[in-house]
Amino acid sequence: MPLLQGKYGYFSDDQMSYVITDWRTPKPWINVISNGRWGLTLSQTGGGYSWLTHAMLNRITRWNQDIIQDDYGKYVFLRDNDSKRKWSLTPQPLQPEYESFCCTHGLGYTRFETAYQGIKTTQCVFVPRELDCELWRITIENATDKPRNLTLTTYLELLLGVFPDWHREFNKTFIRTSYDAGSNAIVAENTLWTAPLPGNAGWNKSWDYKAFFFSDQRPDSYECDRERFMGQYNGFQNAKAFSGDKLSNRTGTGFDPIISYQYEIKLAPGESRTLVFGLGALKKDAMENGFKDMLNQAVKNSEGLLQQVKDYWKNVCERLIVNTPDPALNVMINYWLKYQAISCRLQGRSAYYQCGGAFGFRDQLQDSQIFLTLDPEKTRAQILMHAGHQQKDGTVQHWWHPISEEGRLTEISDDLLWLPFLAFKYVNETQKFDIFDETVPYLDGGSGTVFEHCKSAIDKVLQRRSERGLALIGEGDWNDGMNGVGPAWKGESIWLSHFLYGIIVDFTFICKTAGRSESDIKHYAHEAERLKTAIWEHAFVGDWFMIATTDSGERLGCADAAEGKIHLNAQTWAVISGLADNAQSQKLMDQVEKHLYKDYGVLLFTPAYKTVRKEIGYLTRYAPAVRENGGVYSHAAEWVLIAQAMAGRKTKVYDAFVRLCPPLLSNADADRYKGEPYVTAGNVEGPESLHEGQGAWTWYSGSAAWLYSATIEYLLGVRVENGELVVKPNLPDGWPGFTMTRVFRGKKYKITVSRENLSKDQYLTKIEEI
Ligand code: GLC
Repeated sequence: MPLLQGKYGYFSDDQMSYVITDWRTPKPWINVISNGRWGLTLSQTGGGYSWLTHAMLNRITRWNQDIIQDDYGKYVFLRDNDSKRKWSLTPQPLQPEYESFCCTHGLGYTRFETAYQGIKTTQCVFVPRELDCELWRITIENATDKPRNLTLTTYLELLLGVFPDWHREFNKTFIRTSYDAGSNAIVAENTLWTAPLPGNAGWNKSWDYKAFFFSDQRPDSYECDRERFMGQYNGFQNAKAFSGDKLSNRTGTGFDPIISYQYEIKLAPGESRTLVFGLGALKKDAMENGFKDMLNQAVKNSEGLLQQVKDYWKNVCERLIVNTPDPALNVMINYWLKYQAISCRLQGRSAYYQCGGAFGFRDQLQDSQIFLTLDPEKTRAQILMHAGHQQKDGTVQHWWHPISEEGRLTEISDDLLWLPFLAFKYVNETQKFDIFDETVPYLDGGSGTVFEHCKSAIDKVLQRRSERGLALIGEGDWNDGMNGVGPAWKGESIWLSHFLYGIIVDFTFICKTAGRSESDIKHYAHEAERLKTAIWEHAFVGDWFMIATTDSGERLGCADAAEGKIHLNAQTWAVISGLADNAQSQKLMDQVEKHLYKDYGVLLFTPAYKTVRKEIGYLTRYAPAVRENGGVYSHAAEWVLIAQAMAGRKTKVYDAFVRLCPPLLSNADADRYKGEPYVTAGNVEGPESLHEGQGAWTWYSGSAAWLYSATIEYLLGVRVENGELVVKPNLPDGWPGFTMTRVFRGKKYKITVSRENLSKDQYLTKIEEI
């Protein structure tokens, strides 16, 4: 039986790929492939788009965010010139009745294998690690005993700039294409780039790049004019390009721009042919050498480049490998959560449900936790990058765009605190306190050490407290959707108060360890105590913590409210931050289990808002139980693993993991859950939704890095405490143990945990250097 076999596919035995055997998955099941510059999404039907550096400002190909039809992509077609039948090498857009089909999403590549009318094809799409392009390796094999006379046609639509492009008729007039016979390439430029570039030159400036489509084999004909390819009012089913005539070889400007190549392919019985295609872009001034080099490598060594991609991911992921009795945990921890966090969240920053491109101040900082166990210097680099988006007074940009470097300063109150949060996690893991002495410029001029950056963030949040000493929420806390609660800076956030409490306790410790001044140490220790007292005095109502108060003083998240009676974050973080003692933690987690637990996750709050409440914010405007409106918000739900562990409720940790683990959710009922089994969903819809239990907003979710770190640190219990690697597992009953190999401070260790012949909670643990 294949590994974790589900209705639509399974994991390969080496855990590193997911094989889809039935393409009619309940929603597109995609891959997000990126090397940090070039990126693409690709679904099992062949849908998707490509970008360079920024999926919104620097989109290369067109796409339509249609999750239902999923019929917008870069496609390859074959036509049998004798039978005149045509088909696509991917299920869309022609939906052929394949004799066989499989789509393998791997780490860094996706491969389609089909058979139709005795012609077997393989199309492998990947992004080389070091080149700003994607490559497609296509093999066509005649598996029949008759000679076959085929035509191969490729197709993609050019965007070359800012997405969404609702002004297609306007924008098409700026794109120019030309054919370069020497390199079998169509080169495309755009004389207008509407990105908000520095100096406000966006509406009188050319796109900085040239894009190109190339092949290792000269096309027999090509086409850049979409109307000529399709014919007016036609679609792929009846496109003129498939009439049997050659393409018109039109390039230039003034038409709806595509790139299409066509080849006559004659195959004797058993014969096969491989073609390589590439789509890339380079800055204009890098074209001369860059283009030649890219062509050279791509055309001569595409197999080698693919192998490099596979080796890269294997090498990154295998710095921490677990072997537990749960294969679903193994695949997610060993490969897929790392891949999701790195390839999609940190490098690509885009997917199907959200076309992004920007860096979120809190988002990518949290994502960079993934590197703590793999390559902590990358976490450090992320911390330094984010510190550079802070002002002297501690405030930060909520997000900023690479390329345009434009960002938005925020009145959201928690963003800035994720900087110290991550810096503390980094020094805890590495003991490299020298990060605090690194100097980083402020956005508004001048510079400060990372210690000063962290301190100013903490001080700012400490200043922003209500008269009764609770943290003010401003235009939202971690929950972006609570943006109506406190814009007048009167409303309070209880979650933020908990978060702040944990951070100042840690900061006091850091000040001591890093030999900072006595007065600092005293000051922060004192503030922590004051805050703790204020939280218990004012925020605990009935049996749990409320979540916030609004500018007008309304309490949110209390039992007497009609909607949003109990919120998860205000309970979990009371435990995680150390604010609640053990007895109090038991009571809080009991309430969480009683009100918020579902078999498909843990709700962010309940009941969902059915009435729009301006004074709460846009979360009340979502459909009930969708996204932040009272469904499962995976990112927050995963904090339950940590809270259960910290409350000492050992077996509840795995129980929470099971409720949140994508392959388990999918295999329980793939048609209900709908999302991919190999990546986390941003949210799973809750009880008031028509689609209760449906996973959505997959891939582009901060939940990947958190599920990874919560599982390793609090379920398997392998974490750093006081500078030492410790093993304090919280295993479910029935698990005899597990093994883990991991790199820690440059050395590789094997950790063995076993409890055979021991009573339930006693483990034999061994840490050996290997
Ligand atoms: C989105 C945002 C993240 C925020 C979360 C909850 O995932 O990217 O920053 O914390 O929603 O609102």
